[in-house]
Parts: sequence; C-alpha cells; structure tokens
Amino acid sequence: MTSLDNITLGVLTSGGDAPGMNAAIRATVRTALANRARAIGVANGFEGLVNGEFRPLNARDVGGILQRGGTILQTRRSKRFEEAKGMREAIRHMNEAGMDGLIVIGGDGSLRGAHALAQQGIKIVGIPASIDNDIWGTDMAIGVDTALNTIMEAVDKLRDTASSLSRAFLIETMGRNSGYLAVMAGVVCGAELVLVPEAPVSVEEVIHLVEDAYRRGKTHAIIIVAEGASIGVTELSRIIDEMDVGFKTRVTILGHIQRGGRPTALDRLIAANLGVKAVEALLEGQTDIMVGMKGLEATTIPLAEVTTHPLRPALDYYEVAKTLAR
Ligand code: F6P
Repeated sequence: MTSLDNITLGVLTSGGDAPGMNAAIRATVRTALANRARAIGVANGFEGLVNGEFRPLNARDVGGILQRGGTILQTRRSKRFEEAKGMREAIRHMNEAGMDGLIVIGGDGSLRGAHALAQQGIKIVGIPASIDNDIWGTDMAIGVDTALNTIMEAVDKLRDTASSLSRAFLIETMGRNSGYLAVMAGVVCGAELVLVPEAPVSVEEVIHLVEDAYRRGKTHAIIIVAEGASIGVTELSRIIDEMDVGFKTRVTILGHIQRGGRPTALDRLIAANLGVKAVEALLEGQTDIMVGMKGLEATTIPLAEVTTHPLRPALDYYEVAKTLAR
C-alpha cells in the first residue's frame, strides 16, 4: 500500500465474543485514522461481509466502548461464508466499498476464515480473541484474562459456602476442547483437582483424590472441570455422592457468564497492542498474518502457521496446580 490518504480498512469481529473485542475495534479504528486511512466497521462478522453490512467508523464512533464487554459490531458464526458463493459475495462487497484491507478479530475458526480470504488475494490481518486461549502463535488471546478473573471471583465465592458445609463443588468452566481456563483457574483458585480434555483421569482416581482430601482434614474440595473433559460434572457428582467419600457434592456450571463483563486492564492492554500492530502491518503491506503476544510484545505470525498448527497445549501449569493442591 503506497499513498495512505486513500486507504480504507475494514474491521470485523467473528465467532464467540470475548471481553476486550471493543477495545481492539477502538485501537484499530483510531490507529487507522491516525495514519490518514479510513475505517469501515463490518457488522455481524463474516455473515455481514457476505451481506455487505458496512458502516464508516470515525474516532467518536468508537468512543466510550473501551470498557464494555461484547462487541459493538456484533458477531456471528457464518456457514454461508464457508461456501464459494458466500466468499464471492463478500469479496464483491469489499471491492464495491473500496476496502483495501481487513482486520479480523476472533478465534481459531475466524482466523481460518481470514486465511481463506487472504488466499483469494484480500489483504488480511487477524487479531486473536477467544476466552479459550487455544490459538497457536500468541501467549494470550483477547478475553482470556477477563474470563479467568470472572472464574476466580465465582470460585472464591463458592469456596466460602463449600467450606461452611463441608462440601465438594464441581465447577464447569468453558473452553470447548481446551483445558486452559480450567488449569489456570485451578492454580489461581487453589483447586483440589482439575479435569481437562488434554489429560484424562479415571473416575476411580477422582474418587480416590476427593476421599483423600477429606481424610487429610480439608473442609471442602474444589474440583474444576473443563467443559470438554472426559467426564461431565453432573455424572461425576452422581458417582461421588453414591460412593460416599465424606463430602456431599454440588454442581455449578459457570457457562456464558465467563464471556461477558468489563475487560481487565491486561485485556485492554493486549487489545491496544494488537490493534495498533495489526493496522501498522496492513499499512506496511503485510497480509495473511496474525498479530499475537509474545510476553507483553506484539509479534506477527503467518496465518498459514496459525491455522495448521495443533491447538495450543494448555498443560504448562497442570503440574503446578497438582503440586499446590496438597
Ligand atoms: O469459543 C468460545 C466458547 O465460549 C467456548 O468456550 C464454548 O465452548 C463455546 O464458545 C460456546 O459457544 P456458544 O456461545 O455458541 O454457546
């Protein structure tokens, strides 16, 4: 991209919403404007791209959104965009609007969509946003820290009631096929046990560990179960109660509460860094890449690598959670 005066950049949010998406929209729009480029917001993710649901965004349009969860552009999971006809319509609408490049803010499925569009010659930069933290090429995705803080607050409260009545609480966290949130929650909430899809544990072992916690004089047991774990919370609760291990159980499924709320300072910082880096990369002519975090620095990585690499392993802290559960 040569003369920046006539450059128009689009931005969309796609897949599951994540706290901090608005902060990322704000950062991309304001960085574009600061570089004399124009910004267009695409409503409803790739579905809105297929339908041509575009609106210009100026500096004031993205005022007052930094602290809000969700996404002002709204988001969808689009089946139509996956078909050749949908992709063709999307490209036609982008050309008609004079869009020179597009920033896609979303999770692994959205980044696959971004890569497919880049393969058609569209200039694309992806920004990772998903509470699951299962995206290759970034230490942290936007939304993860806020979700973890939401879980921490909920588990702290559940522990109060669990110890008062000497109960075992089975708490289900989100994360589709990734145990990242469960493992990290296990560490920061001091859980007795964490169950994740990446490290299956037998029912017998779970029973043994809960009974052992009771024998060692614990006043409660906090068991964090990732939604993709091999045994579900309801089934596990039934079995533990049947086996009479000392604690009676209660189940809490945290669900979509983990996706909402004001983004934490860390999520706002990551969103600011990645938003700035994404626009700078596009204006430099880079394409088919994702911007990601290496520590607190923004880096770039080809989308081809992000989308073909196996999911990020979530087990870095698994042993730490186990060691600290004594
Ligand atoms: O990918 C984010 C996520 O919240 C997962 O953790 C969860 O499995 C899924 O989305 C839930 O999707 P939906 O909002 O469609 O119920």
